[in-house]
Amino acid sequence: MMKIKPPKTRDDLIALLSLTEPDDLQELYDAAYAVKAENVGRVVYYRGLIEFSNYCIKDCKYCGIRKSNDEVERFDTPREDILAMARWAYENKYGSLTIQSGERQDEAFIDYVEGLVRDIKELSDGKLGLTLCVGEQTEETYRRWFEAGAHRYLLRIETSNPALYATLHPDDGHHKWQVRKACLESLRRIGYQVGTGDMIGLPGQTLGDLADDILLYRDMDIDMIGMGPYVVHHNTPIGKAVLASGMDSKEEQKRRLEMGLKMIAVTRLFYPTSTSQRRRPLQALHPLGRELGLKAGANVLMPIVTVPKFRPQYLLYDNKPCVDEVPEQCKNCISARVASVGDTIGFGQLGRFAALFPSQVKGFEPTRA
Ligand code: 5AD
Repeated sequence: MMKIKPPKTRDDLIALLSLTEPDDLQELYDAAYAVKAENVGRVVYYRGLIEFSNYCIKDCKYCGIRKSNDEVERFDTPREDILAMARWAYENKYGSLTIQSGERQDEAFIDYVEGLVRDIKELSDGKLGLTLCVGEQTEETYRRWFEAGAHRYLLRIETSNPALYATLHPDDGHHKWQVRKACLESLRRIGYQVGTGDMIGLPGQTLGDLADDILLYRDMDIDMIGMGPYVVHHNTPIGKAVLASGMDSKEEQKRRLEMGLKMIAVTRLFYPTSTSQRRRPLQALHPLGRELGLKAGANVLMPIVTVPKFRPQYLLYDNKPCVDEVPEQCKNCISARVASVGDTIGFGQLGRFAALFPSQVKGFEPTRA
């Protein structure tokens, strides 16, 4: 049996991501879980997720709610319903709420989100942490929302490789890797806690690309990392190509799941304190995806709090779990999964702000919220 050493270089990252023997993988996950336990505790934080609208101006070639997917029935959740769900999350002691939608950049949308942020902060007396996940915006817009009370923002880089990014997006001048990167820099300047992440197992993605994603999280001093395997959506250009080339067999899906778990573990070993958010796509590939993610070093889960009737209209990928459940069921189901791993739930807590580098050398900082 090999002994897992903490990765220091790009080559170390690639070496760990290359492991395939079951015993080696178990050792990798165990090492990452031990590092999580030691550095951030065996505590899992919930971030309730409200997917409030699927209108989108973008046309990302992998995503089920892309503008050109005309199979999708578009929806906007009524404001009162969003506020009711936010109140539910607060009353159920979810320390923090994420509101997500397709991307829009018009003035009406910007105003709407700003008002929503104020109202959600107000209904919880400022206690419910609020994270936004509504895409690329100008620095001024990000600033308005920050001043309204949002303190965290999630925006995935998707991949650190600009050439790979270009194959995943239309070449229309509106889907630029450099813009995505600049948005992350704006968010950081304004003072948000910034989350980013990648999709794992994309067509054409190499182990070097994945190692570079991990290095980018460090170089950008990222606070939260949300990663998950790429999952086919049947009515998208990439999904169709993957299906046509036979690259969506059970073995391939298993390979992407395994790569997702390795990425979590290797990221945890490389940045002991990262909050490493685990997202649902893992479960779409494996019924025990979320437990496995926690055992590989993740410490955040995002139970869906979306209004039940809109859930079937917010499908970024096929076979999304929890679509036919109500929030109460999601909470109970996820809590059982956390218990089965032996972790506890950080109810009512924002989650420790766990900066990566360089703040890590100073030790933990209290949450900035
Ligand atoms: N498979 C996995 N993740 C996806 N996302 C969008 N489409 C897919 C898919 N088919 C992810 C992207 C995006 C986030 C909101 O959802 O990383 O940033």
